Amino acid sequence: MRMKLYLNLILGLCFVMALGFLYYSSWRISLRFWVHKSVYDEQGFLLSLDSTLSLELTYKYGNLSEGACKPGFAAAKMTVIYPKFTKLAPVFLDPNYKRFSRIGNFPPPFGVKSQETIIDHLLSLTKNYGLGEDLDSLNCKKCIIIGNGGILVNKSLGQKIDEYDVVVRLNGAPVKCFEKDVGSKTTLRITYPEGAIQKTEHYEDQSLFVLSAFKAQDFKWLRHMVYKQNLVRLTDGFWKSVARRVPREASDMRILNPYFIQEASFKLIGLPHNNGQMGRGNIPTLGTVAITMALHNCDEVAVAGFGYNMSTPDAPLHYYEKVKMLAIKESWTHNIPKEKEFLQKLVKAGVIQDLTNGICGAKC
Ligand SMILES: *[C@@H]1O[C@H](CO)[C@@H](O)[C@H](O)[C@H]1NC(C)=O
Ligand SMILES: *[C@@H]1O[C@H](CO)[C@@H](O)[C@H](O)[C@H]1NC(C)=O
Ligand SMILES: *[C@@H]1O[C@H](CO)[C@@H](O)[C@H](O)[C@H]1NC(C)=O
Repeated sequence: MRMKLYLNLILGLCFVMALGFLYYSSWRISLRFWVHKSVYDEQGFLLSLDSTLSLELTYKYGNLSEGACKPGFAAAKMTVIYPKFTKLAPVFLDPNYKRFSRIGNFPPPFGVKSQETIIDHLLSLTKNYGLGEDLDSLNCKKCIIIGNGGILVNKSLGQKIDEYDVVVRLNGAPVKCFEKDVGSKTTLRITYPEGAIQKTEHYEDQSLFVLSAFKAQDFKWLRHMVYKQNLVRLTDGFWKSVARRVPREASDMRILNPYFIQEASFKLIGLPHNNGQMGRGNIPTLGTVAITMALHNCDEVAVAGFGYNMSTPDAPLHYYEKVKMLAIKESWTHNIPKEKEFLQKLVKAGVIQDLTNGICGAKC
């Protein structure tokens, strides 16, 4: 009798303990789920932007002499605040581009769908698909992207800019007569047809001419440039007149991997997917596309000339012309505030360095 009572008591106790344990563990699981959900924002960036590297990397980088290039630094920092980041994405299209499946399902500007024939043809003409022997063989590259902002004026950053291994310039941004502030070296000039320099004498002597294609027409334009054929009508299919000649040999022309537009728009900035079609407000600016490219292909990434300061309406909008900040218009294609939010994350977390501090101002 007594024995049975004890047994029941023990069984009951076990039952209560088991229930308690179940309750406790499910609470832990839901707590962890809740915590996990709240750590990242909609795009998948760490909310607190704590970009502390592993002890091993911190030690490795701390051991390098001051100013030395830190291999894999930008990608490592990026991965900490954005775990979905995977480094592999070549700068330019090469004859193996069809193996890079992420661009096959989207038409331009997000991919290559239905443009394969003309791309294959262009690649067979340019025959070169890298940055050049010297740069391709470096085991650590420091890159800088030069934005066109008036914030560059009178900062005398030219010499510092020229020290980078890779200097990227965008569209028609001139170098001649502005060397003191923007440097004289140009490794890549990334443009779309409407943004390309129109006067051939305004090109620098040496640089790779890189097409960032936003529409099917842009590939046709590049074919004309490769064959040095004059375009008959300069406005057909373009939103403004385009350059009729580019003073570069085919071997110095490249096609930018459209994956960077896709990733910047849909993943990093979080612009509307619009069924993978170009639509109102889902095109990133070329500057942000170039930064995205650099995160995948450079070990350290810096920028200069980015950001507009609206509290100084009389300051120059661009470093090379007199148009004032006041003239900036609402953009239908871009989403400047969301883009700025993304760039601020990169600066705050130390993924990129902003030499002119226009992205954050006093904020980061
Ligand atoms: C760091 O520096 C110390 C002393 O200079 C050296 O013994 C060590 O091997 C270095 N470590 C790495 C990872 O380079
Ligand atoms: C830059 O310096 C020049 C010469 O000192 C001056 O005339 C000009 O107003 C300055 N521009 C800006 C935007 O500060
Ligand atoms: C904008 O300009 C104002 C006035 O010169 C300055 O106080 C502020 O820090 C600037 N902001 C940025 C983002 O550079």
